[in-house]
This record gives sequence, C-alpha cells and structure tokens, in this order.
Amino acid sequence: MPCKLAAGNWKMNGLRADLVELRALVAVQPAPDCGVLICPPATLLAPMAEIAAGSHVQLGGQDCHTGKSGAHTGDISADMLADAGARYVILGHSERRADHGESSDLVAEKARAAHSAGLIAIICVGETEAERDAGATLDVVLSQLKASTPAGATAANTVIAYEPVWAIGTGRTPTLEQIAEVHDALRATVPDADMSLLYGGSVKPGNAAEIFGLANVDGALVGGASLKAADFGAIISALDAA
Ligand code: PGA
Repeated sequence: MPCKLAAGNWKMNGLRADLVELRALVAVQPAPDCGVLICPPATLLAPMAEIAAGSHVQLGGQDCHTGKSGAHTGDISADMLADAGARYVILGHSERRADHGESSDLVAEKARAAHSAGLIAIICVGETEAERDAGATLDVVLSQLKASTPAGATAANTVIAYEPVWAIGTGRTPTLEQIAEVHDALRATVPDADMSLLYGGSVKPGNAAEIFGLANVDGALVGGASLKAADFGAIISALDAA
C-alpha cells in the first residue's frame, strides 16, 4: 500500500519568527498512516529539527546538489540535509526546472545522491499550460517521470508529485477527472506500484478532501497553504479522513 503523505513546501518563505507555525503543527495529531512533512528553507532545518524531535512531523530539503561535498558555492548536499535533520528532499520542482534550467537527467542524478544519503526523494513532474493545451500532458509527465527517476527507486526511497505548472500558486486546479487521468497513468508507469503519488498545485483546505478522494492520489505537496498551521492542519485532517 502507498503511504499517505501531506507535504508542505515553504519555498523561499520563513524566518525564525515563523517557527511558531511548526510548534502549532506539532500539536496536530494525524492518524498513524498519514505522514506529515515540512520542507522549509535550509536556514530553518536545524531549528525545526529541534522543535519536531519526537513528534509526527518530518522535515525535508527543497533541493540538493549531486555531490557529497566540494567547491560548489551556495549549494547544499543531500548529506548536509540529512545531517541537519531532513528525511526527505524535493527534487525537480518546476520552479527549479524553470529558474535554474534543471533537466530530468540532472534530477535523476540528484535523486541518486539523495538515496545514497538515506533521504527519500520527492520527484516532481508536471506540464505547462501550453503543453496541456497541445494535448501533450501525459507525454510530458510520463517522459519526465521516466527520465527523472533513477534506477533503484522504490516506494521506500521515492515519492512522485504531479504538479501542473499552471496550477502552482495560481488558485487554479485541474478538474478531478484531469488529476485522476494523470495519477492513473503515473500509477501504471512508476517502477514500484506502491510509490506514493502526491498531487500539488493550489491545494487548500476547501479542495483537499475531494482531491484525496481520488483512487491514485496518496496525498499532496502544498505550497502557500502549508505556511500556516491552521490551513495545513485542515489539509492533514482531510488526508486522515480519506
Ligand atoms: P501551491 O504550490 O500550493 O502554492 O500552489 C505547490 C508547490 O509548488 O509545491
């Protein structure tokens, strides 16, 4: 069975003053089969690890380098994330593919680095609006999946997040039929059928329950609505109930 996971991606948001949100989240008790993850900016990993210690909340990074260490100014290795308290790392988010020109081959290499550091890689895939309009959604998503997922990826070390680029931070979401179509195709294509499949893109307390009701949706990767414990807590409750 795939594990249920509510994952929050804080992106480039969060100062020490925002640790109060994690403290509030630690007080929310999810069902035992629902994982709760926050991926803060790297600057907050260590203080968050202290707050989350012994709780149900796990931590993750938002990117990592392919190497273990070395002369790479500004980069962070998977080993460093693990050392700071991370259990997961988001890789190949569309903002990194767009802002930093990351290819699927590079994402696969980063996922290999994450696996060898003992991290679970959350590999993101998703089409642009132009690709959807051109009828290329499944081609794009499945080819990103195949090229971004390294050999040795299993349900124990890899999670896939479907995030349509046009739904991220826009308040627009695909129809349930459109989400189901992509998730069903992902389920049929992933190298391990038990891999958790997350949906991401404008997930909110108001739409989470219907999205989690879909057969091959095992959770969500949540941006804006993960920044406040009240909103993210409501999404966690919806996942618990699904
Ligand atoms: P959003 O972001 O929930 O703010 O749309 C999702 C993501 O980019 O992971």
